[in-house]
Amino acid sequence: MSSIQHLFDNNQQWAEQIKKQSPDFFKNLSEQQKPKYLWIGCSDSRVPANDLLGMLPGEVFVHRNIANQVIHTDLNCLSVIQFAVDVLEVKHIIVCGHYRCGGIQAALETTSHGLIDNWLRHIKDVYRFHKEKLEQLSDETEKANLLCELNVIEQVANVSNSTILRDAWERKQNLTIHGVVYNVHDGILKDLNVSISEKS
Ligand code: CO
Repeated sequence: MSSIQHLFDNNQQWAEQIKKQSPDFFKNLSEQQKPKYLWIGCSDSRVPANDLLGMLPGEVFVHRNIANQVIHTDLNCLSVIQFAVDVLEVKHIIVCGHYRCGGIQAALETTSHGLIDNWLRHIKDVYRFHKEKLEQLSDETEKANLLCELNVIEQVANVSNSTILRDAWERKQNLTIHGVVYNVHDGILKDLNVSISEKS
C-alpha cells in the first residue's frame, strides 16, 4: 500500500462530499475556469488561499512562493500574472503576506541559509528602503510584523509597475491590486488599504 494512501482516501471523501452538495460541480468546472481573483501569497502551509477565503475550486487563481514576492524578472510569477490578467481577466489581484513569516524572519537574520539567501535578498532590500522606520522599533516581533506589511506594499507596487498591469490599465481593463496581511494566530485577514486600480 502507498505510504500516502490516506491522502487518496481523504481525496475520495472530499470529492464525494462536494458531489453530494452539487452533483455537476466537477463536470461544470472541467469545462472552464473563470476566477475573479488572483492570489499571490506565501508558500507557508498555514496560509491556504482557497480555505481562508472560503472559496471552492475554480474561484481563485493562485501563485505562491516564499514570502509572497513579485520579482521584476521572475518569469514564473510574471507568467501567472499575465495569464490571470490577459486570459482569465481577473478583476482583483490580492498580494497576501502573513505575520510569523519564516521568509521575513530569515531576512532579518544575519545567518546564512544557503541558496534561499538570494531570494530573501529582495526582502533585505525592502528593509534597507525602510531602515529608519524599522530601526525605531525595539521589539523584534513588532519589527518583523512591520517588515511583513512593508514587503506586501512593495510587492503591490511591483505588480502595478509590471508591463502586464500597465498595458491592461492602458486599455482600460478593470483591475485592482490589493495588499493584505493574514494573522496566523486568529485566521483573520487585514486590509492594508494600499489598493491600486490605475497606472501611476
Ligand atoms: Co511566509
